[in-house]
Amino acid sequence: MALVGVEKELHFAPAKRYKTNIVKMFCKQGFRVWYTFLMNTSELETTARALVADGKGILAADESTASANKRFAAVGVEQTEENRRTYREILMTTPEAKNAFSGVIFYDETFWQNTSDGHSTWASTGLSRVSSGQGKPLRTYCAENGIIPGIKLDEGFVDLPGFPGEKISKGLDTLPERALKYRDAGAKFAKWRSVIAIDHVEGGANIPTEECVNANAFVLARYARICQEADLVPIVEPEVLFDGKHTAKECEEALSRVLSQLFVAMRAYRVHLSGAILKTSMVLPGKDSDIAIDALDVSERTVRVLREYVPEELGGVVFLSGGQTPQDAFRNLDAIVKKGPHPWGVTFSYSRALQDPVLKHWAAHREDSVGAKKIFARQLAFAVAAREGKLPPNTTAESFVSASQDV
Ligand code: 13P
Repeated sequence: MALVGVEKELHFAPAKRYKTNIVKMFCKQGFRVWYTFLMNTSELETTARALVADGKGILAADESTASANKRFAAVGVEQTEENRRTYREILMTTPEAKNAFSGVIFYDETFWQNTSDGHSTWASTGLSRVSSGQGKPLRTYCAENGIIPGIKLDEGFVDLPGFPGEKISKGLDTLPERALKYRDAGAKFAKWRSVIAIDHVEGGANIPTEECVNANAFVLARYARICQEADLVPIVEPEVLFDGKHTAKECEEALSRVLSQLFVAMRAYRVHLSGAILKTSMVLPGKDSDIAIDALDVSERTVRVLREYVPEELGGVVFLSGGQTPQDAFRNLDAIVKKGPHPWGVTFSYSRALQDPVLKHWAAHREDSVGAKKIFARQLAFAVAAREGKLPPNTTAESFVSASQDV
């Protein structure tokens, strides 16, 4: 009776339909609750918050073997498994790392490698590999020093058929098993990168096309949900590439479309947003545009896009450096943080901007790991200052160890 009264008052449909709707609503909510039970939301939220904690950021040490080899080749280092291990061990065992890093993103090879007091050989055990030897796994070393180990889970890109110049990330098919394997070996978070190019393709459409933006958003959202069910905090990284002649305005438009679709897809695929992190590029004029990078403009445009499209409940926002020089990457982050307070923790998740001067030094002085660590510590001090919006204003290009090697 009461229901009928409410129906009449609110001009609802006949009672039977209303009751059916209520049942449907409870089922829908029930499913939502049930779906949420498939994941440990409080653990995911705790890890996400820790990753963007004050004064810390994330080291991206997850270059694929092909990318790591390309960077080694550019500075004349032999491209061997042992060299990749040694170099990454220098980064992770730099004493200042434990205060600067909340997390490290590993690539599969390094995830299973040990510190140098042991052996770096692998033994295959079906889906998983285990390290042998006396040293401890680098991931364990990091965890013992308060640095959360994470894993890159995308398997690179393929061309998006029918869309020249556009790519789609791959690796979803085997993701559930892989996510559990890394979780069981100590990973607490994961990263998946998609790339979005800005260009005008001869005789074709301007890119990014809606199809590319939507297809990558779909993949990132599905990845994120799969990770959360394996207790891994997903870092979703739709990188709008720095390469090209585009203006900052064009970059702002592209990033807006990408983030808008990404969060539509994340919600649709029932990602628990407070237990997920966005890794994004900044709004920059293209690398080949001949337009100078101005930190104030970058920060205004970047913050405008984030405020418009990134849900406030998201677990955090981290930036990639994307081929900027270290000084641009630090100055731009500093300017972005100064525009806060932001609704989410905001920090760095850099590879090249942190590593380039270290790799250059190590390539030229292979026995001098102490010198390489000192350079890395200096990069970390800049990164942490920028993360707090406290990069000294008189920091000049000369204050930095060296310019990007741009590889
Ligand atoms: P860069 O900082 O070199 O862009 O690398 C970050 C990263 O993780 C790219 O996926």
